[in-house]
Amino acid sequence: MGPNGAGKSTLLKVMALLDRMSSGEILYRGQVIPNGTPSLELRRKFSVALQQSLLLEGSVFQNIAIGLRLRKVPKSVIKEKVALWMEQFQISHLAKKNSHYLSGGEAQRVNLARAMIVDPEILFLDEPFSALDFPTKIKLMDDFKGIVERSGTTTAFVSHDLMEINYLTNSLAIMVNGEVKQHGPTQRVLEHPNSATSPFLNEWKKFYQVNSRIEKPLSM
Ligand SMILES: Nc1ncnc2c1ncn2[C@@H]1O[C@H](COP(=O)(O)OP(=O)(O)OP(=O)(O)O)[C@@H](O)[C@H]1O
Ligand SMILES: [Mg+2]
Repeated sequence: MGPNGAGKSTLLKVMALLDRMSSGEILYRGQVIPNGTPSLELRRKFSVALQQSLLLEGSVFQNIAIGLRLRKVPKSVIKEKVALWMEQFQISHLAKKNSHYLSGGEAQRVNLARAMIVDPEILFLDEPFSALDFPTKIKLMDDFKGIVERSGTTTAFVSHDLMEINYLTNSLAIMVNGEVKQHGPTQRVLEHPNSATSPFLNEWKKFYQVNSRIEKPLSM
């Protein structure tokens, strides 16, 4: 988590091996990954889903199947697994639909199913819920939380939204100006910000205080 421009997306892309670093090193299970030349085998251990779903031309089924097709998984297994993941994300009814005619929420469900179907060792997510309207976001976050908990997939999740962080994560790193300034269990970080992270977190706390004072009843 961190303010706009803190370096969250940059760090996530470097960790997911989508971008090269100019300095530093990345370790995976204690081994240094050579900068810029990760093996295909290693890259395939990670999945990524971004704010924009970036779906390919074709049906929902084809989009979710792509990772397995690239791994030359037999067609019958692909069919079975795609059906399973469409069911998990509640998009079975969209199987044949052209991916370009989906709503934002539907497209993000396809995007997440496409990332999960290859059974990644680490799932990297960059603000996957931030472009969705509030009810769509809440429903998808809730479904996604259940799916990730059941699968046990280690997930690194970037967000600048305290509500999403609070709901979805158990450990938290806060970036400010290109550096991780604090990390630890989510609740502990939120309750005990340090001098570098408190200006950012205090803005959020103010927002919640203001929000909790708005109690005007709806006249419907
Ligand atoms: N390859 C790069 N080389 C140098 N600087 C970069 C590179 N990629 C991004 N930056 C810069 O690094 C800073 C952090 O960008 P980044 O997109 O990681 O921020 P962010 O925390 O994800 O912000 P937001 O919340 O707006 O998405 C920006 O000033 C950006 O212009
Ligand atoms: Mg970003």
